[in-house]
Amino acid sequence: MERVKTTVSVIKADIGSVAGHVVVHPDTIAAATRVLAEAKAKGVIADFYVTNAGDDLELIMTHRKGADSPEVHEVAWTAFQEAAKVSRELGLYAAGQDLLSEAFSGNVRGLGPSVAEMEFVERPSEPIAVFMADKTEPGAFNLPMFRVFADPFNTAGLVIDPKLHTGFKFEVYDVFEGRSVVLNAPDEMYDILALIGTPARFIVRRVYRRIDGEIAAAVSVERLSLIAGRYVGKDDPVAVVRVQAGFPAMGEVLEAFAFPHLVAGWMRGSHHGPLMPVPQRYAKCTRFDGPPRLVGLGFQVKNSRLIGPVDLFDDPAFDETRRTAQLVADYMRRHGPFMPHRLGPEEMEYTTLPEVLEKLKERFTKVEGAPRAAEPRIKTELLSRESKEGD
Ligand code: 13P
Ligand code: 13P
Ligand code: MG
Ligand code: MG
Repeated sequence: MERVKTTVSVIKADIGSVAGHVVVHPDTIAAATRVLAEAKAKGVIADFYVTNAGDDLELIMTHRKGADSPEVHEVAWTAFQEAAKVSRELGLYAAGQDLLSEAFSGNVRGLGPSVAEMEFVERPSEPIAVFMADKTEPGAFNLPMFRVFADPFNTAGLVIDPKLHTGFKFEVYDVFEGRSVVLNAPDEMYDILALIGTPARFIVRRVYRRIDGEIAAAVSVERLSLIAGRYVGKDDPVAVVRVQAGFPAMGEVLEAFAFPHLVAGWMRGSHHGPLMPVPQRYAKCTRFDGPPRLVGLGFQVKNSRLIGPVDLFDDPAFDETRRTAQLVADYMRRHGPFMPHRLGPEEMEYTTLPEVLEKLKERFTKVEGAPRAAEPRIKTELLSRESKEGD
């Protein structure tokens, strides 16, 4: 007999917030909670936890319907619609921000919400970590995911634990081309890094344990601006990671966030800033709409029920990380509108900056005798967005 599988689905959307892009309103959480409670009573989902990371409404659900279940996605979509309704009534800021479509057609992917889902046969004890970030993009998880699953200086278990010692498979997703490649660590780790060092484009989507193919992590890859074709907000991502007993320990997973690395997002989704891991109560992006925040909640999953949560970064051991993040925030802010604090031109294409530049176009005049820049010498398909025709 096939063993029962549990699915963890973390689905989020920004449906509007209080006082700008700061925090969700409790009434919107209540509205979403009502929808999920009803779905639980009907047996569509087994359990749930509704929360927020800053202005993002987060639905953490467990069920037995697998990833991409139309029924479960419809529950999430309805919860977001109901919450957005409340948001509009209260005149919240950017009400319905991430809901890019009116119509639901079986799956929330492509409609604006972000999704991280994984299905597994529960271990006798199944601890997981759910990560939710505000004011950044999915590629923000690339560096920590690499460190957790491929860097022995972060994860001692890669050396010590036989189940981890054979390494992990990384599914790397290309958001521009909509395709992915599976690469093995440690043998192909330089190839993995060659891709995921470009986090705006290549995103670690899933990680599997090589010894038996068990899923270890899932990260949302939705990028709103690419779906909408314009800036509507950053693509504040979510991730689920299984921990302990054959996977990296909870502390090894959290250790990867002890370095507040620079990520894209922050003010108007247009700036680089340090990713600051915080207790849930501090997931409130105020200074220059940031710096970008990360919330981590720990749960045990038992018979598809969620036991917890534990607020994982509510620990003074992360105080120095936060202090470093403050110093880096100060340093980056002093660059004002200059790169590399402001994002590069490729990323700025999806903001309102092109409208400003458009009006200057006519005022440029040719400089006599100026050398023409040569065509770029190296133009590989993987690095150039214009390289493919007909898509
Ligand atoms: P305990 O001895 O506290 O259970 O910790 C085991 C462990 O492996 C921690 O990483
Ligand atoms: P959110 O993506 O969190 O809505 O932030 C948008 C923004 O422009 C912040 O300055
Ligand atoms: Mg917002
Ligand atoms: Mg947000």
